[in-house]
Amino acid sequence: MELRHLRYFVAVADEKNFTRAAERLHIAQPPLSRQIQQLEEELGVELIEKGTRPVKLTEAGAFFHAHAQELLAKAAELKTMTQRVGKIERTLSIGFVASTLYGLLPRIVRRYRMLHPEVDVTFHELTTMQQIQALKDGVIDVGFGRVKSEDPNIRRIVLREERLVMALPAAHPRAASSDPLSLVDLQSETLLVYPKTPRPSFADQVLSVLSERAIVPLKIIEVRELQIAIGLVAAGQGVAIVPESVQGMRRDDVVFRALTDRHAVSPVMFSVRKLDRTEELQKMLAVIYDVYDAAGISYIRETL
Ligand code: BEZ
Repeated sequence: MELRHLRYFVAVADEKNFTRAAERLHIAQPPLSRQIQQLEEELGVELIEKGTRPVKLTEAGAFFHAHAQELLAKAAELKTMTQRVGKIERTLSIGFVASTLYGLLPRIVRRYRMLHPEVDVTFHELTTMQQIQALKDGVIDVGFGRVKSEDPNIRRIVLREERLVMALPAAHPRAASSDPLSLVDLQSETLLVYPKTPRPSFADQVLSVLSERAIVPLKIIEVRELQIAIGLVAAGQGVAIVPESVQGMRRDDVVFRALTDRHAVSPVMFSVRKLDRTEELQKMLAVIYDVYDAAGISYIRETL
């Protein structure tokens, strides 16, 4: 059975018609019918009910259709991913979530550029879920995100677990003391979470930290992105739970307080295409660990 057989069968099943499927495949109808017949003979089962118009799939045909679609999608992904891995020019395209820009990403990229000036580095602001797709589409080579999602084509390394802090309007009564705050305090607060879409996102991470502790904020407002959440905190609209690296933002009118709960953390994740061990990626991981060493951040070293 060749990939060609899968493509032909999927076209017939999608179009429910041999003539339209042949047109879509740019081949004549008789060879298409022969290929489907060969496929049925090889499998030893009928995939299409005889004499039905529009074409009707048998139970085995519907099963084969679903799996053939998945295999073809995987083959297409493999093609784009391999083309990207084998690229001739030395480039590194980075996907990142906004919060990493307030943390160590700029320092890491500065060092990477200094050590490897021959590599052309480009950036794409993407949520973690968008990074997974962009890796598969060959748009980025590495993603720095926060959501632990699983994908068979993606290798994910948790670089570190970053502590969360609470952002409050400077005039908020709880902002006066520098003592760590309890998440329980959120029960009397409006909580701003981001991003609204796509989900799951950092918003769900924060909400699950709260639901695991049976904490229900007075009100929850979903906003598009980090900058909007912090801007609305400054405007007195509510409070937000953010990674501690964000603490440099809007220091004039937003106050950041540590949390008493040491387990309220958010991972910083390094995602790459599975089995992609290109030199540019190895060098990036080495630079990250160098920067962590210099900053005194603890981590578990992994290799690609
Ligand atoms: C970090 O803050 O740990 C980090 C941010 C971006 C890339 C790598 C690490």
